[in-house]
Amino acid sequence: MTQSLTITRPDDWHLHLRDGDMLRAVLPETARHFGRAIIMPNLVPPVVTGEQAGAYRDRILSALPEDMMFEPLMTLYLTEDTDPEDVAAAHASGLVKAVKLYPAGATTNSASGVRDFDKVRPVLEKMAEIGLPLCVHGEVTDPEIDIFDREEVFIDRVLDPLRQATPGLRVVMEHITTAQGAVYAQSGGSDLAATITTHHLIINRNHILVGGIKPHYYCLPVAKRENHRQALRIAATSGLPCYFLGTDSAPHTDANKLQACGCAGCFTATNTMALLAHVFEEDGALDKLEGFASKNGPAFYRVPENPGQITLVKQDAPVAFPEQIKTPDGPVTVFDPGFAVHWTVA
Ligand code: DOR
Ligand code: ZN
Repeated sequence: MTQSLTITRPDDWHLHLRDGDMLRAVLPETARHFGRAIIMPNLVPPVVTGEQAGAYRDRILSALPEDMMFEPLMTLYLTEDTDPEDVAAAHASGLVKAVKLYPAGATTNSASGVRDFDKVRPVLEKMAEIGLPLCVHGEVTDPEIDIFDREEVFIDRVLDPLRQATPGLRVVMEHITTAQGAVYAQSGGSDLAATITTHHLIINRNHILVGGIKPHYYCLPVAKRENHRQALRIAATSGLPCYFLGTDSAPHTDANKLQACGCAGCFTATNTMALLAHVFEEDGALDKLEGFASKNGPAFYRVPENPGQITLVKQDAPVAFPEQIKTPDGPVTVFDPGFAVHWTVA
């Protein structure tokens, strides 16, 4: 029996494309299915100014195969030296769609992130004034705080006070991983939202640690207990407008993943839409997939939905996704959900 589902072309509201050879290798994996993506600015060095974001956007567009259509939505990496006027100008020109807050040391290439939140207050106030969203990596970096508690503690210690102190600031809680994150995301009306990754809907911390360590399941924020995964499934399939897809697809070569101190990130660009169809069907919520992947994000970011559509098809035989994407830097392993998937994008 074949079954099919046609939805508005989706967007990815949180994506790592990197640069150079890696960019050229991974960009088609996203552009094949997605109309647009919010592009993370954590390059080395980071994308801090409007001028740097414009140059990065040009490099992305030149890496795009000629037969593909894709619009990169650029972000700026918030530092303690970010100039509010530069942010405002980059937003006014239409180039920049969000600013990304990394607490310093929270994750890959976050060393230039924020230590003292008072120093970024003028930027946040400017953003509230102009309606430019702040995308937040919500984990505290305090070494005293257990890594599995860092999201929950961030909400109480940092995010809630920051939002109280900056009325009108529009915030996206990126890649939420906890029930507490899902609950908090609902509390801010149309000025607060959360992205949810594909992999956090599928794995819990056992997948990383039981039966031998699985570096390809290690990402940040790290996957939590099963009850949190279930809370994320309920959130994603709820149809509520505050939740939308941000894959956090984060390519690292196998050489960088499979070592004593391996990099954080799951590469899901290739099979995300198929995996989401599987997940939403399993939860009896296929009718909510379009909202999550194609409608809630544009509504929050105040941009039109994509004009085109994609069709997901369910086939009898399991789909064979590529295990790796070849890049000149070495192979990048595609996220393996650990179960047979029968959905594919036609
Ligand atoms: O797992 C992750 N990988 N989490 C992040 O926050 C960053 C990302 C990356 O850039 O590799
Ligand atoms: Zn990310």
